[in-house]
Amino acid sequence: YANAKKFPDNFLWGASTSAYQVEGGAGQDGKGPSVIDIKRIPEGTTDYKVASDHYNRYKEDVALFAEMGFKTYRFSIAWSRIFPNGTGEVNQQGIEFYNNLINELLKYDIEPLVTMYHFDLPLSLHEKGGWGNRETVDAFETYAKTLFEYYGDRVKYWLTINEQNMMILHGSAILGSDVSKKELYQQNHHMLLAQAKAMVLCHNMLPNAKIGPAPNISYIYPASSKPEDMLAANNFNAIRNWLYLDMAVYGRYNHVAWSYMEEHGYTPTILDGDMEMLRNAKPDFIAFNYYTSKTVAESKGDGQDVNNTGDQEIVIGEAGVYKGHTNENLPKTEFGWEIDPVGFRITFREIYSRYNLPLIVTENGLGAFDRLEEDGTVRDTYRIEYLRKHIEQIQLAISDGVEVFGYCPWAAIDLVSTHQGSKKRYGFIFVNRDEFDLKDMKRIRKESFYWYKKVIETNGDDL
Ligand code: BG6
Repeated sequence: YANAKKFPDNFLWGASTSAYQVEGGAGQDGKGPSVIDIKRIPEGTTDYKVASDHYNRYKEDVALFAEMGFKTYRFSIAWSRIFPNGTGEVNQQGIEFYNNLINELLKYDIEPLVTMYHFDLPLSLHEKGGWGNRETVDAFETYAKTLFEYYGDRVKYWLTINEQNMMILHGSAILGSDVSKKELYQQNHHMLLAQAKAMVLCHNMLPNAKIGPAPNISYIYPASSKPEDMLAANNFNAIRNWLYLDMAVYGRYNHVAWSYMEEHGYTPTILDGDMEMLRNAKPDFIAFNYYTSKTVAESKGDGQDVNNTGDQEIVIGEAGVYKGHTNENLPKTEFGWEIDPVGFRITFREIYSRYNLPLIVTENGLGAFDRLEEDGTVRDTYRIEYLRKHIEQIQLAISDGVEVFGYCPWAAIDLVSTHQGSKKRYGFIFVNRDEFDLKDMKRIRKESFYWYKKVIETNGDDL
């Protein structure tokens, strides 16, 4: 794209992981259990006890990130390493691990980008009602304060909650427990309060730090130009995407989402002071995860409106407002996820024009069955192609005037996926293990590793 603007000089190229998917070290050095330890593991897939053993190999991994030239690395802190019971006594060994990790990153001038909570709620909080219990909001505030105290001298970028919208929309799928919609929207309200408190606290304690939410945002298309389909897309955009960002940025429930909740009896209990708290908290930027766009059609309201795009299921017929639809214009990954780079540009524009805050991508990537060849290489050209096409669209979004300050694809290194085990790989670095055979866990640079290194070296000029 000859006329495209260049990536800004200080653009934060990097990649992401999350604690439970990469660390392993379950129970090591005083770590308490989290909901991940009771998660329903689909048959034929591994659990998260060892994962990529990053807990014990972080130095080797960070050296490889540095070799790729990462400017930033997005990782999450396991709440139950810091507070084995979710609250109460701090586990110094847990504190130490992230101290070491942060120092190791800074040694190579890699900016740590820290997610405070990525799906792994401490089990003891879960047992006391989890996010349905208002006390979890206080526990999160204490946890946030502790992170800012210990790491705030070195961590400048904070993310509150990963994909809160997915936890609410696919609550039972992610956390493995069956919860009613009504209860989920109450949990949602509490998570929003927790996030607001963390943002206020961050600004009070660390005036130079920046903090923001990290939802999964994909623009929703109508299945046709039929006004009813357009309305369905408008509804789903409001409920899936904007609800979370309107709350984070403006502290208000958008009217479409609210009337949807009212109509179905899902409105949460809101206490005095809650809305004020939400309104007073402001993020400094918006981080978002993008894998694919979504397409919806008018719902028949018969409870049969189920769409199966690979493993990403939209089951919302009961809402009577939209139903999932396969977009025939888009190719799919091996796992059935639609690939839509242009939708990425559209998503950037929509978010930026609604909120006018700087944007950073905290996930984007391709899950595939990679193969380690006999000659020791991993030729993941399909991943390079996916990433190249998405990076081109970031550049076009920048040319459209969108302020983008970083890109962290999923994932820095192979890790265990959310539902499809370790054979569904996303990393630039191959981890030599099988689903159940841990082999030697050797780290092997994939073809995409060398490609991404060059992309970073040339600041996105050479894709
Ligand atoms: C995001 C999550 O939803 O998508 C990650 O934040 C997850 O934790 C990623 O791994 C990819 O999804 P999956 O199911 O392929 O692992």
